[in-house]
Amino acid sequence: MRALHVPAAGEQPRLAELPVPAPGEGQVLVRVQAAGLNAIDTSIASGTMAQMMPHAYPLILGRDAAGVVEAVGAGVDDLTPGQEVFGHVLLAPPIQAGTLADDALLSAAAVSPRPAGLDVVTAAALPLAGAAASAAVDAVKPQPRETVLVVGASGGVGSFAVQMLASRGVTVLATGTAADTERLTGLGAATVIDYTPASVVDQIRAAYPDGIDAVIDLVARGTDQLPLSVLRSGGRVASSLGAVDDDALGAAGLTGTNIKARPTREVLSALAEQALAGTLTVDIDTVVPLEQAADGLNTLANRHTSGKIVVKVSD
Ligand SMILES: NC(=O)c1ccc[n+]([C@@H]2O[C@H](COP(=O)([O-])OP(=O)(O)OC[C@H]3O[C@@H](n4cnc5c(N)ncnc54)[C@H](OP(=O)(O)O)[C@@H]3O)[C@@H](O)[C@H]2O)c1
Repeated sequence: MRALHVPAAGEQPRLAELPVPAPGEGQVLVRVQAAGLNAIDTSIASGTMAQMMPHAYPLILGRDAAGVVEAVGAGVDDLTPGQEVFGHVLLAPPIQAGTLADDALLSAAAVSPRPAGLDVVTAAALPLAGAAASAAVDAVKPQPRETVLVVGASGGVGSFAVQMLASRGVTVLATGTAADTERLTGLGAATVIDYTPASVVDQIRAAYPDGIDAVIDLVARGTDQLPLSVLRSGGRVASSLGAVDDDALGAAGLTGTNIKARPTREVLSALAEQALAGTLTVDIDTVVPLEQAADGLNTLANRHTSGKIVVKVSD
């Protein structure tokens, strides 16, 4: 099978033939039709993730996929060959299996039937970003009429989080550039805050001197980078990058959660239902063939995108 893979530690990703893997216990072999790209794929491709979790080589890139079940391993009795599915390669050591290939091995627990009406490109864009957004929104326990800031709203996770918050009756403040304003407003943001000309914190403190209720931060890599001073006493924070430090937040009268996306079957089927019902819009920035998947990863790492990049692997 063709696979975009890192042959050995420190090497550049290349598209070349690898043997088709066989599904082990609890696993499903999926013929990949489309694979959605995520920020983590660029970290794995560049080798950055190797400091955090062991890697095994050859390492196939990509974690989200939509396709057709080819074979199931022992103990998988609820998915059958020929079934249309979408899913995610769960993050577990060592990182090695991936979806930017003709065939991919996924854990059955992270594979869900793809409902008729949900196309493969949309389905492939949903798993990780949708599950992360869902976890972040749940973590801040938003109440109707509360005001919540999403930092990084223009990205894959943020675009879903904005919609999920708005659907719960929340006033959503979303960061983005001027180019994102129309799109984010269309997704339900009440205000789009341009983070490029002036400090987001200053803009929000000027507009909300009593503080807002919660922050979902998808950009900060440390507590000192979180915009904690925009929050009222008792405010809540969710971080996708481990920036929440309980002691530091507690000292400021705040609470927080470092979220971990779990794109399990239950979460995936809820996301599919929302996408089908039209309550969750999946913005696709670009669809590229497998031959250009490495370019897609470079684009994700280097250029401002307006939605998800999806690799179309086969029909
Ligand atoms: N914990 C988990 O389970 C989990 C799950 C999924 C994702 N994540 C992490 O969460 C982060 C977001 O993921 P993603 O898939 O949404 O990534 P993404 O699509 O690359 O989106 C990140 C967005 O943040 C914007 N941004 C960059 N700097 C900013 C700033 N200073 N202020 C406001 N916005 C800024 C980016 O805009 P530009 O394009 O203009 O730079 C981009 O639109 C990634 O770091 C990812 O690794 C964690």
